[in-house]
Amino acid sequence: MTNPTQSGSVQKPSDKDRVLIFDTTLRDGEQCPGATMTFEEKLEIAEMLDAMGVDIIEAGFPIASDGDFEAVSEIARRLKRATVAGLARAISADIARAGEAVRHAVKPRIHTFVSTSPIHLEHQMRKTQEQVLEIITGTVTQARNLVEDVEWSAMDATRTPIDYLCRTVEAAIRAGATTINLPDTVGYATPDEYRAMFKAVRERVPNADKAIFSAHCHNDLGLAVANSLAGIEGGVRQVECTVNGIGERAGNAALEEIVMALRVRADVLPYDTGIDATQLMRVSKAVSTACSFPVQYNKAIVGRNAFAHESGIHQDGMLKNNTTYEIMTPESVGVTKTSLVMGKHSGRAAFRSKLKEMGYDLGDNQLEDAFTRFKALADRKKHVYDEDIEALVDENIATAHD
Ligand code: KIV
Ligand code: ZN
Repeated sequence: MTNPTQSGSVQKPSDKDRVLIFDTTLRDGEQCPGATMTFEEKLEIAEMLDAMGVDIIEAGFPIASDGDFEAVSEIARRLKRATVAGLARAISADIARAGEAVRHAVKPRIHTFVSTSPIHLEHQMRKTQEQVLEIITGTVTQARNLVEDVEWSAMDATRTPIDYLCRTVEAAIRAGATTINLPDTVGYATPDEYRAMFKAVRERVPNADKAIFSAHCHNDLGLAVANSLAGIEGGVRQVECTVNGIGERAGNAALEEIVMALRVRADVLPYDTGIDATQLMRVSKAVSTACSFPVQYNKAIVGRNAFAHESGIHQDGMLKNNTTYEIMTPESVGVTKTSLVMGKHSGRAAFRSKLKEMGYDLGDNQLEDAFTRFKALADRKKHVYDEDIEALVDENIATAHD
């Protein structure tokens, strides 16, 4: 487990498999409380995702509202590279509406889903397993008559008995589904279970090789990204995720974390995405602003502390060589630079480097004096800003001249 060169320059194996990135920020992401985006914001985000290299953009749920329909249609018209998907329940009117919304896309996809778990069949759908199998065949066939690219999802797949799950997957592929998504809808699975589920389905379903398998994980137990990576090890070649991990309840797997995990740990996860990672920070900020949803400070990759160091020991290491405490460069994800945060844990070396960066060149005695004052200030104040240091050094220089 060595990380000799940092992500941007990690040596990648030449036989890497491609994993498609399916972004559902505008659909599952927008479903999180308070994250509604306007028509213009959705178009802007879709264009950014397209430019960043996302393979499939789930632009919305066209039957949900006229606004959703308009946004999906306009995104479908505008994007020239990514596949544009519209979501539909296993209901004829939904599928027709989704087909209409994506019809102008260069690469249109209908994504239709139905629940397969006993809990959902009994309490929500009130249907038998045989009835659901018939629904799958009918709805996937309808979608396939509208577009060539049809994704079918087994909602609550991870709480579905494996024998029945295999029967549903076989039926969906027979009816023409080209992508099979097995979501961990309620964020219940562990990585081992999720990997094993895909392995079993791919081994047992006779026509499994005719479809691409997809992972879609929710974060109720904080396992969404780990489960998505385990899904890839189980044979998945499409991962569904959202920018900043926004989504229902605790959210979806975070796009930026999946992309960077695959890049930084290419030694053990030899799979490539088409994402230009240097755009991650910019897109994260745009999504956070559009849906008025702040990114937690310590969020991996795009949180404001993701490349900030406060401890004296860490700052000392960073000043000597940045691979000591960073496994990827900030530039590789679009962050301008590492920041050494000045606080009570900062040491002399970091303080000297900060002064140099601010344009001060103090002699040894002055530096020692300023450092003592800085430590006293840092003990009293939660944050020591550049202006505080400026005041402290100016006062120090003035005293020296008296
Ligand atoms: O979490 C889920 O099961 C979904 C489906 C609609 C794919 O979002
Ligand atoms: Zn979901």
